[in-house]
Amino acid sequence: MKTVSTFQRLKDSGEKIAMLTAYDYSTAQVLDKAEVDAILVGDSLAMVVLGHENTYNITLDEMLIFVSAVARGAKNSFIIGDMPFMSYNLSIEQGLENAGKMIKSGANAIKLEGCNEHIVNLVKRCTETGIPVLGHLGFTPQLMNTLGGHKIQGKTSDKIEAILESAKKLEEAGCFGVVLELMPADSAKYITENLKIPTIGIGAGVNCSGQIVVIDDILGKFTDFTPRFVKKYANLHDEILKGVELYKKEVKTEIFPSEKQSFELDKEEKEKLKN
Ligand code: KIV
Repeated sequence: MKTVSTFQRLKDSGEKIAMLTAYDYSTAQVLDKAEVDAILVGDSLAMVVLGHENTYNITLDEMLIFVSAVARGAKNSFIIGDMPFMSYNLSIEQGLENAGKMIKSGANAIKLEGCNEHIVNLVKRCTETGIPVLGHLGFTPQLMNTLGGHKIQGKTSDKIEAILESAKKLEEAGCFGVVLELMPADSAKYITENLKIPTIGIGAGVNCSGQIVVIDDILGKFTDFTPRFVKKYANLHDEILKGVELYKKEVKTEIFPSEKQSFELDKEEKEKLKN
């Protein structure tokens, strides 16, 4: 059974932490079987599942549906629920109450983006209340408009030091780890080496304590765009297309359903119908 302490144990032992996103019951079952170190129900689902252009439009109530589906599918995994935009930014009370809803829906921990006084205080209150928190620094999609778009972060020593300072604040406040998104590998290495808690990289090179990627990206299911840091391990889009096209052809040509997929009427009843 994986718990929050698995993260620190893996960092301390030098074993990399392998995390993936999941959004639905059957995918969660597969990740559970593969024994990934943790599953993130990321707000990226706004884009890859719901078709929004960015992550701003997903609500907490929508996120909770996917968190509970993943929790039903991945009974042995450590599940992290991503707090969506504006579900924790208004007040400590709002953030704490909504973090509680994530846990009640089946998450074992939550993830918050960014670092300011409010976030630090919220991390403290959540951890005191028994809600583990994963931080998220570097490129933070919920702050995309103030960051000026999809830009690589931590490109100068000043900026790297600023990210490290934020990461240390999150560590001190009680975060059990911090996601580092979209930054040069050397920047992430420096931050990782100067933190006690593990870092989980996405587009941040091999020197983080672990990696997280969006499952629809690495399995080639989401094809609107593919970030440079994504490696494709399968091509589900093409596989699904092939299956759907064959199904369509077989329906049109009456190959499907065959006898094997059909139910027989009793002979007697068949006769009655004829008469
Ligand atoms: O929403 C998400 O999926 C994420 C990551 C990939 C880190 O935040």
